[in-house]
Amino acid sequence: MPEDIQNVQKRFEELIKQVTTLTELDSLKVEYLGKKGIVTGLLKKIPTLPASERKSFGTAVNSLKSLCGRLIQEKRESILKSQETTDVDISLPGRKGYLGSRNPIITIIEEITHIFYSMGFEVIEGPDIETEYYNFDALNTPDYHPSRDIQDTFYLAMPGYLLRTQTSPVQIRTMETHPLPIRMISPGRCYRRDAIDPTHYICFHQVEGLYIDRNVTMAMLKGVLSVFARRLLGKQTQIRFRPHFFPFTEPSVEYDITCTICGGKGCRVCKNTGWLEISGAGMVHPKVLEISGIDPKKFRGYAFGMGVERLAMIKYQIDDIRHFYNNDIRFLSQFRGR
Ligand code: DAH
Repeated sequence: MPEDIQNVQKRFEELIKQVTTLTELDSLKVEYLGKKGIVTGLLKKIPTLPASERKSFGTAVNSLKSLCGRLIQEKRESILKSQETTDVDISLPGRKGYLGSRNPIITIIEEITHIFYSMGFEVIEGPDIETEYYNFDALNTPDYHPSRDIQDTFYLAMPGYLLRTQTSPVQIRTMETHPLPIRMISPGRCYRRDAIDPTHYICFHQVEGLYIDRNVTMAMLKGVLSVFARRLLGKQTQIRFRPHFFPFTEPSVEYDITCTICGGKGCRVCKNTGWLEISGAGMVHPKVLEISGIDPKKFRGYAFGMGVERLAMIKYQIDDIRHFYNNDIRFLSQFRGR
């Protein structure tokens, strides 16, 4: 390689090592590769040389030119890279993406739904905003019934409308529109003007159940609820019926399950009774069938309701209903992956 070219290369390599900014890099580029630059000057010399020198000189200058170009490009990239990282303290721990979790109420509704679905129940949803007719009248609930009181129910400004206090109105809506036999469950949100405490909240969830056919019996009701309780809460879980009153069933019962905390021996949670109350059930009242357009002489049915929060509190051993609604990540993250 001709000596002057070698010197230019050496000098260039020294200078580019000292470059720290893009501005310095740009002026070095102009100095060497610009129109009046050193390397450009050497290139211009080629045609003036005697033919014998031209080839080797030309090759050397051209490889110098591409070397300079490459070193400039590499330098540019390293400057840009160091600029990117100057504002970042790479010794800080990284920020992790936060993985959310489902509310246990949604999870348990899915589980309940799955159990009934596998027993042949279809899932039907009803509206949260109901009419007084579906929420009370069609369910044989008279004017003087306490749950119709303005103290107990959220009425809307629009006359005749309210936030449903139970999922039972979906029974009527289904009987009005579906062909028989009917075997359905209806999960959803309900609302009551309850004073808030560890077991009461202004909104909560229920799952309603309804089976209408020609020969439906109360024994079938008990069978289905027993299978359900065993599958949701474990094989040893039992069910018992206690006589009760609901306007839309006759006879009516409240049903309990064996306390899952003490296994039925008696503890603080079950108030030493060994049983935990779930909700109500019964044989659909003939008047309710009639109102819904079904002949009570030909068809009968059972119905049941269940409090979802109550079941979730039992299953996951949660002591306060408000946990479900506070959106506290410390609570919710315990249910990740369920
Ligand atoms: N809807 C009732 C309540 O909220 C629960 C209930 C009782 C539902 C008896 C039923 C039933 O379907 O047959 O208290």
